[in-house]
Amino acid sequence: MNSTKGRTTIDVGTDGVAIITIINPPVNSLSLDVLNSLKESYDQALRRDDVKAIVVTGAQRKFSGGFDISAFGKIQGGTVAAPKPGFVSMEILCDTVAAARKPSVAAIDGLALGGGLEVAMGCHARISTPNAQLGLPELQLGVIPGFGGTQALPRLVGLAKALEMMLTSKPVKGQAALSLGLVDAIASSKELVNTARHWALDILERKRPWINSFYRTDKLEPLGEAREILNFARAQTRKRAPNLKHPLVCIDVIEEGIVSGPRAGLLKEAEAFQGLLHSDTCKSLVHIFFAQRGTTKVPGVSDLGLKPRRINKVAILGGGLMGSGIATALILSGYSVILKEVNDKFLQAGIDRVKANLKSRVKKGNMSQEKYEKTLSLLKGALDYESFRDVDMVIEAVIENVSLKQQIFLDLEKFCTPHCILASNTSTIDLNLIGEKTKSQDRIIGAHFFSPAHVMPLLEIVRTPKTSPQVIVDLLDVGKKIKKTPVVVGNCTGFAVNRMFFPYTQAALLLVERGTDIYQIDRVITKFGMPMGPFRLCDLVGFGVAIATGGQFVLNFPERTYKSMLIPLMQEDKRSGETTRRGFYVYDEKRKANPDPEIKKYVEKAREIAGVTIDPKLTKLSDKDIVEMIFFPVVNEACRVLNEGIAVKAADLDISSVMGMGFPPYRGGIMFWADTLGSKYICSRLEEWSNLYGGFFKPCSYLAQQAAKGAPLSLSVDQAKARL
Ligand SMILES: NC(=O)c1ccc[n+]([C@@H]2O[C@H](COP(=O)([O-])OP(=O)(O)OC[C@H]3O[C@@H](n4cnc5c(N)ncnc54)[C@H](O)[C@@H]3O)[C@@H](O)[C@H]2O)c1
Ligand SMILES: *[C@@H]1O[C@H](CO)[C@@H](O)[C@H](O)[C@H]1NC(C)=O
Ligand SMILES: *[C@@H]1O[C@H](CO)[C@@H](O)[C@H](O)[C@H]1NC(C)=O
Ligand SMILES: *[C@@H]1O[C@H](CO)[C@@H](O)[C@H](O)[C@H]1NC(C)=O
Ligand SMILES: *[C@@H]1O[C@H](CO)[C@@H](O)[C@H](O)[C@H]1NC(C)=O
Repeated sequence: MNSTKGRTTIDVGTDGVAIITIINPPVNSLSLDVLNSLKESYDQALRRDDVKAIVVTGAQRKFSGGFDISAFGKIQGGTVAAPKPGFVSMEILCDTVAAARKPSVAAIDGLALGGGLEVAMGCHARISTPNAQLGLPELQLGVIPGFGGTQALPRLVGLAKALEMMLTSKPVKGQAALSLGLVDAIASSKELVNTARHWALDILERKRPWINSFYRTDKLEPLGEAREILNFARAQTRKRAPNLKHPLVCIDVIEEGIVSGPRAGLLKEAEAFQGLLHSDTCKSLVHIFFAQRGTTKVPGVSDLGLKPRRINKVAILGGGLMGSGIATALILSGYSVILKEVNDKFLQAGIDRVKANLKSRVKKGNMSQEKYEKTLSLLKGALDYESFRDVDMVIEAVIENVSLKQQIFLDLEKFCTPHCILASNTSTIDLNLIGEKTKSQDRIIGAHFFSPAHVMPLLEIVRTPKTSPQVIVDLLDVGKKIKKTPVVVGNCTGFAVNRMFFPYTQAALLLVERGTDIYQIDRVITKFGMPMGPFRLCDLVGFGVAIATGGQFVLNFPERTYKSMLIPLMQEDKRSGETTRRGFYVYDEKRKANPDPEIKKYVEKAREIAGVTIDPKLTKLSDKDIVEMIFFPVVNEACRVLNEGIAVKAADLDISSVMGMGFPPYRGGIMFWADTLGSKYICSRLEEWSNLYGGFFKPCSYLAQQAAKGAPLSLSVDQAKARL
């Protein structure tokens, strides 16, 4: 069998225990080849007279990461046939493994996720290492567990816990799995297989219970109680994920098994899985899964065979909101950090912010006091550059002031070693300008974090034409180590995220000035799946920032900036957003946002200044129209970002929109979503609005070209390169 697609081996010991090992590096995923091979190994073990019992395990100290996700795309695209419905759940696991007259024990190290855990649950017992991760994260990919997990897990851990594990996709560790009853014993990596062997022989000799997971009932709640739990889960799911069907399907499938028995449950599971596999939600989430892992593939950078250099110590300039957030993210991942400020007072304030960030984790129970002390000990304050001689990277996060930043980079050049990376988290100033006076332009790079830096998952790595590939590779590595998703972008106003989403607010302002209701827009956009609408977002960010950023765009893209006075007018009245407790909403003590009838006054004034009138059509837009009028301008700008080569590939913009702005991942990101609607449609609508409401909506040349060809907007790396 071709080892690149994976296989299983079978090895029979003198004690009569067959060890079946899943081999498919790096995580022993269950490709179709592995599954077929698993069935063959099992048939052999059951046939052979010298085999009394079976242990299933994974190579390289990992049980299995689950069904091969790359096969999803191939099945959806029709290049690979799906396994026959129920082949794995019924034919292999329920009828072969669980029903066998020879006992099976799973020996779990590393991870048993998704299909991996489902294979383990098909066995009669499970032994795990204390830190192994066990879980059913399938819902994250828009499907449900498809190898019998919806039936086996509730029977092993009870319905309530099983629902929680499936609906949140969160794995449990071996030790916790033991107390849940998901595993039967804990053993060290070294003892694991031996313990499992003995366990299997003990089952055979009836010294341990011989349990078929699919037919166990003692952990299941009585039917009445079970129904209540299921209905509660349904209600919560509808509230938490109103746009998603598959979590509800999962609950229905679980219910079927509880009401009509495991066989009926398995049948329903197999049917539902097939349907969901071809849903847009699944396609979108699988796309996001790979797009997120693909951001570090940068042509001309990651394909040169460069190894990231070791970064031990990082210095941060400026202990403001951003600097302290970045410092927090770094020390949380074990980096030594020097935080530099201009005086003792600011330095103390910066360190206090880091402490507060960490303490909120302690308070939530996510961090022990001991870990808190240890993490904080990695942070040192400084008022000068003396301690900068052995730092490997500096991240500058001071106020936006070109001459100040230029002076800082000159100082850094003096005090740091020549290999030290010089990064700036500037959001609006040109990196070329910052580095202009230095001789170090090859090691100057932008590290654009999103606020709060220790929470937000995206890191925009901004390269200039002079940044060396080595420095980019180094920063990509740091980004991954501090658990961010790094996206490499080129230099432009707003980089990828802020630039793409600048028209988000602009379109909303244009509509409101012509009669659309502020709160309706926010409601519709939230319903679409954004964490908040454009007006609530403005309140959160603060009008000061909104006006400053707006100024940058007016300056750089005057022909397509919609100039509204609405925000400046409110700012004049000291309504500056959430921090002033009044913005587009008014905020009570609990920071709850309430609509404010007074807003009308400002809207009327802004309308007057803009010299526009209410357009009756815009006062009664459908939800669909609002979504399109807000997001098609975003798509339009994303097209420009791609076409100018600011982003390497469309998938990077998808990830940027999801991780930087909270665009719903189940819609696949901004470009992927646009392509589900089609370039022709988007272009024609933009043209229509451009004629009615002005150049703000005018489709860019790239969008118009793709529409004329009926071609998708998303481009792969190679396609994007060929265009430039
Ligand atoms: N795009 C956005 O939404 C956005 C918003 C805010 C900030 N930013 C960027 O973040 C950076 C800082 O933001 P912030 O919110 O942390 O600002 P901040 O004002 O809270 O903090 C800046 C800190 O840097 C300190 N500082 C000034 N000169 C210094 C020096 N020479 N050495 C050491 N410390 C010095 C100041 O004392 C201050 O405490 C800016 O570059 C800005 O571009 C971007
Ligand atoms: C912190 O702990 C809470 C509750 O245990 C959990 O819901 C949350 O996801 C944790 N957050 C992080 C960042 O680990
Ligand atoms: C970095 O950029 C983000 C997003 O623009 C901004 O909120 C933050 O304040 C910046 N921080 C630094 C350190 O420059
Ligand atoms: C910018 O920084 C320079 C040098 O530190 C300083 O002289 C100047 O006053 C600053 N400008 C503003 C607008 O803060
Ligand atoms: C970088 O972006 C800024 C802002 O758009 C622009 O003024 C500058 O010319 C750009 N520099 C390069 C080298 O592209």
